[in-house]
Amino acid sequence: MKIYNKKKIEFLDLGQQPLANYYLNKNQIQKKEKKYRLVVCYDVKNKLVSIKKTFSSKMMFNNKYPYRSSMSKTMQKSFKDLSIQIKKKIKPKKILEIGSNDGSFLKNFKKNISIGIEPCANVEKITKKNNYNTIAEFWTLKLAKKLLKKFDKMDLIYSANTISHIKNLDDVFKSINLVLSDNGVFIIEDPSLLECLKRNTYDQFYNEHIYVFSYIGLKNILKKHNLEIFKIDSLDIHGGSNRYFIKKKECARKIEHSVKKHCNIETKYGLDKIKTYLQFSKRVEKSKKLLLSIFTNCKLKNKKVIGYGATAKSTTILNYCKINDSMIDYFLDTTKDKQNKYTPGTKIKIKRYNGSIEKDVDYIFLGAWNFKKEIFKKENKYIKSGGKFIIHTPMPKII
Ligand code: SAH
Ligand code: TMP
Repeated sequence: MKIYNKKKIEFLDLGQQPLANYYLNKNQIQKKEKKYRLVVCYDVKNKLVSIKKTFSSKMMFNNKYPYRSSMSKTMQKSFKDLSIQIKKKIKPKKILEIGSNDGSFLKNFKKNISIGIEPCANVEKITKKNNYNTIAEFWTLKLAKKLLKKFDKMDLIYSANTISHIKNLDDVFKSINLVLSDNGVFIIEDPSLLECLKRNTYDQFYNEHIYVFSYIGLKNILKKHNLEIFKIDSLDIHGGSNRYFIKKKECARKIEHSVKKHCNIETKYGLDKIKTYLQFSKRVEKSKKLLLSIFTNCKLKNKKVIGYGATAKSTTILNYCKINDSMIDYFLDTTKDKQNKYTPGTKIKIKRYNGSIEKDVDYIFLGAWNFKKEIFKKENKYIKSGGKFIIHTPMPKII
């Protein structure tokens, strides 16, 4: 444990890591990769958990960004279900999405009421092609001012798995306050810190995930900007996420019981105590040893292991546990921009998923463990014929 800045305590060291979504071409695998030390800190004052070393947004989110929300049926369904809820209960006249990616959420709304902000031009253009109004820029106060002039205030602002990727939260929420109508609703959806600790999913931490939010941390930052959470939904998405419904302080919407309930659960678990984070760190070390022993055993027995879902999260696991191409033959992934490339740091080949698993595969390491249900359903044939998966959460095991 190390204290720096007098306010932040380092509680987890995940070692040298490459940038998570930087999949390598064949000619890049011989070259030296950019690496950094992935250390996770607890901010005592604000009760926020964040990574220590951060990179510029432009470096991480550019026209080579490989992630597509549409690759998962689970996400598509979740966006659709939420859109039905929004249309019924909030009835917005104007919607803004921050981090709209390939338009998987916005496509549930009418084109003339929706605006998407997506800095990665390669994904932004997919939404634009479908005739949605999108802006290929980063969400900043400067952009918010421009938007206000052109489109006036928004009744609904939605941002999934994006706010936790932006370092300057003060700038984010100041901008929200400017653009949100007085009775408007701002919805943030991000992985839950409580679930991350409970499920030992330390791979929620990588260069893009600057924060993993808890209610008790997020509320402290929102408060500075006159914003407050009035409802929280717990979701199973991405290994346990929270959907926070936020309003301006003076807005009359009732604060629902789910907020108090959530606060009590987080406090009872000890998310406001450093001891909780140190215990988590010990469990992560144990998890590493166990996972490595599973892989070593497979190698000793000459078993063929492949990976399924070359996720940004699995970059953290593989590099922390030092699992490389001598232990995993290749990864399968449905994302075109990842195929025929190599995993960052560990240089494991990523192959195109063509709808089935090769017969000689003994074990599949589930990189996309957050879509376990969806994948197990899809790979029913492999499972029925005795195929096994290796999964690292809550503790590494073969299932
Ligand atoms: N909302 C989608 C995509 C999440 S991935 C989903 O939940 O599936 C994170 C997205 O946020 C990426 O598409 C990335 O380009 C975008 N992003 C990152 N920083 C941003 C910023 N400052 N402003 C707006 N979008 C940003
Ligand atoms: P994520 O965990 O960052 O959302 O990434 C999920 C990755 O897993 C993405 O690269 C797509 C891949 N994937 C598959 O290859 N097959 C699947 O069935 C699913 C659900 C995801």
